[in-house]
Amino acid sequence: MALLDVQDLNVVFQTADGPVHAVNGLSFQIDKGETLAIVGESGSGKSQTAFAAMGLLAQNGAANGKVAFDGTDLLSLSPRQMNKMRAEKVAMIFQDPMTSLNPYMRISDQMAEVLTQHKGMSKRAAIAEATKMLDAVRIPDAAARITMYPHEFSGGMRQRIMIAMALLCQPQLLIADEPTTALDVTVQAQIMDLLGDIRRDFGTAIVLITHDLGIVADFCDRTLVMYGGQVMEEGATTDVFAEPAHPYTKGLLRAVPRIDRDDDVLQTISGEPPDMSRLPAGCPFSPRCDVALDHCAVQRPAKEHFGADRRRACHKPLAEVTS
Ligand SMILES: Nc1ncnc2c1ncn2[C@@H]1O[C@H](COP(=O)(O)OP(=O)(O)O)[C@@H](O)[C@H]1O
Ligand code: SF4
Ligand SMILES: [Mg+2]
Repeated sequence: MALLDVQDLNVVFQTADGPVHAVNGLSFQIDKGETLAIVGESGSGKSQTAFAAMGLLAQNGAANGKVAFDGTDLLSLSPRQMNKMRAEKVAMIFQDPMTSLNPYMRISDQMAEVLTQHKGMSKRAAIAEATKMLDAVRIPDAAARITMYPHEFSGGMRQRIMIAMALLCQPQLLIADEPTTALDVTVQAQIMDLLGDIRRDFGTAIVLITHDLGIVADFCDRTLVMYGGQVMEEGATTDVFAEPAHPYTKGLLRAVPRIDRDDDVLQTISGEPPDMSRLPAGCPFSPRCDVALDHCAVQRPAKEHFGADRRRACHKPLAEVTS
């Protein structure tokens, strides 16, 4: 059984301008200890997929479909049950660490609170455990600095503290939503190394959400490419990079800087990201696709399974996309 099994997930927001279809029939799975990248440009529905799974959608949003974690349907949990699930089994980290840190509490108090509430630890044992976790995410001099407030740390350090918070109860799954987007390249690399260590040392499965294909190459076992709230393609990261099977993936890859290639050929995909309140009935990428066929805009492409555990959704024959 997959650790997380998402089947036919839909997320709709009601707005004054009508419904916004942020996620449309999305399915994917992640196994224990696995790393899955969900990539796509800004606005493709990546965060809302995660928020729906975690019970964190905005008031005007609703999700349907199936999100099963270790056999438990997350979409049918009460807010209280979902809170417990978030603290103990499925954790999430964000681009902005202050999303999960309380600016008015010492790090020691906020970390200890998680452990006293969810693990029944004494405050003293909780602080000792929290200090260990700060050590594990390489906060220098953790024992002294644990009594500091979030604003007393640099952005990169705050990111580490948020990761330590998320890991306190040793979740089986960590969803990381653009965890390095706001950081400079060096700190970015350090945080990715840290996530790699966490996976190795704790066996945590990780869903890494990013708009930057460049950072998934070394890190993720599998890559799912998303556009318009739908899966464009999915496969082992090495396969997707070596032989992209979807015009959108090819476009994304052409936009990734590479040292073995002259950056003159770096191209962004022309056109605007999709307007989720006016998606075409067919392939969401059709308005921007330079190889679109006549029926692409009106007929949604079916899921096609091929190769070693790969899938794609495109009307253009595979051989023509990969040639
Ligand atoms: N509360 C909301 N109300 C209406 N639309 C929303 C709301 N939250 C997100 N959206 C829309 O959902 C779509 C997907 O957003 P998101 O999942 O955040 O994209 P990303 O792939 O960049 O993470 C976007 O079009 C966004 O504007
Ligand atoms: S289905 Fe058509 S429009 Fe969509 S990516 Fe494939 S060829 Fe392009
Ligand atoms: Mg996002």
